Amino acid sequence: MRRMKPIIIANWKMNPATWREAKQLFAATKRAVEQAPHVSVVVAPPAVFLRQLRQEYRGKRIMFAAQDARAEAGGAFTGGLSLAQCKDAGAHYVLVGHAERRALGETSEQTGAKVIAALALKLTPVLCVGETERTNDADYFDAVRRQLRAGLSGVESSQIGRVLIAYEPVWAIGKEAAMSPRDMHEMAIFIRKTLVDLKGVGAMQVRILYGGSIDETNASTMLHEGDVVGLLAGRVSEERARIGSLLQAIERSA
Ligand code: PGA
Repeated sequence: MRRMKPIIIANWKMNPATWREAKQLFAATKRAVEQAPHVSVVVAPPAVFLRQLRQEYRGKRIMFAAQDARAEAGGAFTGGLSLAQCKDAGAHYVLVGHAERRALGETSEQTGAKVIAALALKLTPVLCVGETERTNDADYFDAVRRQLRAGLSGVESSQIGRVLIAYEPVWAIGKEAAMSPRDMHEMAIFIRKTLVDLKGVGAMQVRILYGGSIDETNASTMLHEGDVVGLLAGRVSEERARIGSLLQAIERSA
């Protein structure tokens, strides 16, 4: 069986500051993507840039994601953004339950509602899970199991293949070093087992990504040894000079 192309989600977070810089960063990403035909790339820009980036992009290789959105279809939610609006602006994917949203108070129940709403709109939810710390006992497995259970509680077994799981240990996000591929491999086995317990054997096929301090030096090892099909990249994807090195490193080993 041919290996599927690795999926790299470029999470720009709340960057850059201006539309001008956003266009420059996107242009650099586009060039990097052209040099990396064996890599699938999803760009998750701040929502205010999404529609125009999508409209101006003439290629087919880059897909777009929203970084977050509310589950409700509309209503009195000042400052909110709905999934339908993100889809209308050009998103195919949506990050759900990113650690930085959970840290601001998003509950697992809200995350679960977003996953259901995204599937109903035919958006691909990227459910982000991950423990805040690793202690010596194996509590972190329980934390991940709880997030998976709540995040997927409304998902039918038949739909589980439409959800991407991004495992992002909070202690490795925005830090110096990523988790080791060996530990990721162990976690991927745990995630798959948990999903099979919850949703049946179809969940064996679920696609798992890793995120947390991924860069050009560790990305391809993580993809080869971490039992993941993709990566969620923050800082390295926000730097015009580095997105190309990241995709090249992956392309060379794809
Ligand atoms: P980082 O962020 O690559 O800067 O650690 C990853 C993420 O939060 O998705």
